[in-house]
Parts: sequence; structure tokens; C-alpha cells
Amino acid sequence: MTAKFVKPIKLGKLSLPSNVFYSPLAGCSDYPFRQMSARFQPGLIFCEMVKMDALIRHEPSTYHLLDYDPSMRPIGAQLCGSKVKLAGPTARIIEELGFDVVDLNCGCPVDKITKDGSGSGMLKNPELIGEVISNMVAAVNIPVTVKIRAGWDENTINAPLITQIAENAGATAISIHGRTRQQKYTGKANWDHIKASKEAAKKIKVIGNGDVFDAQAGLDLFKHTGCDAILVSRGTFGKPWIAEEIKRLDQQLAPYFPNVKEALLDHLTYITAYQTDHKALLDMRRVGCWYLRNGIGTKKLRESLNRAKNLSEIETLIKEYDWEQTDFIP
Ligand SMILES: Cc1cc2nc3c(=O)[nH]c(=O)nc-3n(C[C@H](O)[C@H](O)[C@H](O)COP(=O)(O)O)c2cc1C
Repeated sequence: MTAKFVKPIKLGKLSLPSNVFYSPLAGCSDYPFRQMSARFQPGLIFCEMVKMDALIRHEPSTYHLLDYDPSMRPIGAQLCGSKVKLAGPTARIIEELGFDVVDLNCGCPVDKITKDGSGSGMLKNPELIGEVISNMVAAVNIPVTVKIRAGWDENTINAPLITQIAENAGATAISIHGRTRQQKYTGKANWDHIKASKEAAKKIKVIGNGDVFDAQAGLDLFKHTGCDAILVSRGTFGKPWIAEEIKRLDQQLAPYFPNVKEALLDHLTYITAYQTDHKALLDMRRVGCWYLRNGIGTKKLRESLNRAKNLSEIETLIKEYDWEQTDFIP
């Protein structure tokens, strides 16, 4: 069967193997998460967002967020900031670090970020988005992309307008999260705003985002909006294989059956190798719950992982659990 939606895509001169991408996720799309994700070959993987100000100050903790391994390619970095003067120099730093794509964050809803006009605060000033993008585009050769929400609130939906502004400023693609800033992460993403933005686009690629938690939703997002690519976000939590699931459903192939036990142990290995023991323990409690949330009867194991005192206890809990008794809802 031929694929209907999932296919290779070009962003400018950059050829990507698939148009199913994985989102930037602050506090989540860290190095071990991306190691797991890369095994299932999404078309593009993003690091967590980094602030322009911190990057220009060469803050080590910010550079740490941008650590990657070549196996994670194609890989994108995302800048957050609204200072026109910093846009070019920080985009250049990203290019010099070897990233394939640099993205501008115009979607973060957190007050701390929006209060200085960054993140989704930029939705209130579409011309500024254009200026920032222009400076990024002028500074680098890699594709410049931008990620927005549908608008600040229901009364000020401006994703189609920003799509045109981004296109005129030279952005190669725009990701549109179908929620408003006011919604934060509540309610449903309204895919109609993504469709309207795709209709407003001439050559800029439109990437749909919001509420892709399973393979069917991924294909539905393509179908509903006519978008060129999709960006999976929370749907990757505990399901690094979701790109594979979407691809298989599109090609009408047999579904992918994950081995959750092995995946958890591999993720534990990656986290243990990368983080301090204390951070690894905290991360593993969270990551463990992600992988198990769709497992019937895993409540006790999730509770035990949350109470675990060290990493070897976590490993023992995973190894000694009776996995045969658990069915996972895809
Ligand atoms: C924990 C968390 C961290 C996020 N961090 C970022 C980020 O760094 N940059 C960004 O553009 N969006 C970020 N987002 C937003 C997601 O990328 C995505 O746009 C949003 O979750 C909607 O998609 P979903 O409904 O499929 O999850 C974050 C979302 C969550 C839940």
C-alpha cells in the first residue's frame, strides 16, 4: 500500500526523511528522551527551547540543553526571545553548533516568558515576529522556522496572518498549535485554525500541532488541515515509537507492538548515563509513569516507581514486574 500522508519533505535545501516531527518540550525533550526518539526515525527532533539572552551570555546550563548526538539528526534547536538584535547572533550560534534547523518560539504561554513579550507574547505583535525572523534568516544558511499558537485568545486569532508574515520574512515552515495562549494546555486544539493558515500560505510549509496522542489522530490532523507535516508533542511521552505507529497506519501495515519493559530499561540506561543519580531518579519516576499510563493494571507499579529510593530499586521493579499480565492500549 502506498503512503497517503507520511512522506519525505524538504525544508528549503534540507531533505527530511519524514513529515512527522517531534516537538520541543521544555523539561522533557532532553538528551535521553531524544536518544529514545531517534530510534523510531521521526523526520525532525527538537531540543528543549533555549533563551536567546542565556545563549548570548554563554550560560553553560543553556548550552547543556543543546547537547546532541549525531544519531539524533535531523535535529532542530528552538530560540525563545523577542529582542530583534539578538535574533541573528543567536541563530548563528545554533548553526555553528551544527543544528539542521533553527526555530523561533512564539507559543510558550508561561507568564514569566510572556511578560517581556517573548513566547506567545509575540502573538500580540505580529510585525515583531516578522522582524525577528528576518534577522534570523539573514544570519544563517539553515532553514528558519517558527512555532506559534492560533492566537492570544479566541477574539484575536491571527495564525493565518502570522503565517503570511513569517513567509514574507523568509521562514521555511511554521508550526501551528491549534490552541490559544489563553487555553494554555486545556480544552481541545482547534485544527480549523491550522487549515486556515495552510490556505493562507503560498510557499511556507505548514506544520500542524495539537492533540496527536495516537496514530489515527496523526493521520486525521493531516487530513483535516491539508498541512505539510505534523508535530507530535505530549503524544511522544512514553511512546517514542509514535512516528512509527503513524507511518504504519498510513501504509496500512500491521501495527507496531512495543516492548514496554525493554523500552523502560533502555530509557533508564540512557538517563543513568547522562544525569546525576539524583536527577536520574526524579526523571525515571516521571518517565516511568509516561510509559505505564496506558497499561492496564499498572497502578501499583507506577506507585512503587514513584516511591523508589534509588536507581537500582527502579531497575529491579521493572525487571521483576509480571509484564505478561498487562495489556497496553495503543
Ligand atoms: C511539558 C511541556 C513542555 C513544552 N515545551 C515547549 C517548548 O520548549 N517549546 C515549544 O515550542 N513548545 C513547547 N510545548 C508545547 C508543545 O510543543 C505543543 O505545542 C503542545 O503541547 C500542543 O501539542 P499536544 O496537544 O500534541 O501536546 C511544551 C508542552 C509541554 C506539555
